[in-house]
Amino acid sequence: MFEKIEWSEFRRRHRHGRITVAFRKIINLLARFTLNNALRVIFYRCTGVTVGKNVYIGGDCSIDDNFPEVVSIEDDVIISHRVTVVAHDRSRLMVAPILIQKGAFIGTGSIVLPGVTVGHNSVVGAGSVVTKDVNPYTVVAGSPAKIIKKLEKSE
Ligand SMILES: CC(C)(COP(=O)(O)OP(=O)(O)OC[C@H]1O[C@@H](n2cnc3c(N)ncnc32)[C@H](O)[C@@H]1OP(=O)(O)O)[C@@H](O)C(=O)NCCC(=O)NCCS
Repeated sequence: MFEKIEWSEFRRRHRHGRITVAFRKIINLLARFTLNNALRVIFYRCTGVTVGKNVYIGGDCSIDDNFPEVVSIEDDVIISHRVTVVAHDRSRLMVAPILIQKGAFIGTGSIVLPGVTVGHNSVVGAGSVVTKDVNPYTVVAGSPAKIIKKLEKSE
């Protein structure tokens, strides 16, 4: 698992050639606009994102194409369309891993910021900006995302 590290240190440790970077960006674009979910998942895996089984990723999502290897999506996750998952921040010169745990749902148009873990079976409301970890079985919404309810474990 990756830890939060400084941008320059990440670049030093994970240096990729220009061809690899260009390849990943092109595959990321294909993933973004392809119509078929199974293909989309395969394309994201090719870019370096870890994607589990039975995952749905909506169209026109933006999953960090600069640092895809620090993004992990576990089994049974649903990411609605136009969600942004960003693992780096040039303003803070840092890269931090993103983990979306089993069974989580991310509503359309949401933004998941660097270093966030979205807990298992949690729900992120549409249009949310997720700045902090989301606990399992918790519904969050808004910008910044705040807890709006807890879910029963059976839900
Ligand atoms: C988050 C969500 C699941 C909550 O649904 P719910 O459990 O029925 O919640 P409620 O409608 O009872 O709302 C509870 C409170 O949260 C607020 N809220 C709900 N969704 C919100 C959102 N996306 N952003 C900000 N606030 C939200 C409501 O206004 C309400 O506030 P109040 O108590 O001050 O009146 C739902 O609103 C949502 O965003 N679903 C995602 C839809 C989506 O992305 N679909 C994509 C295709 S699958």
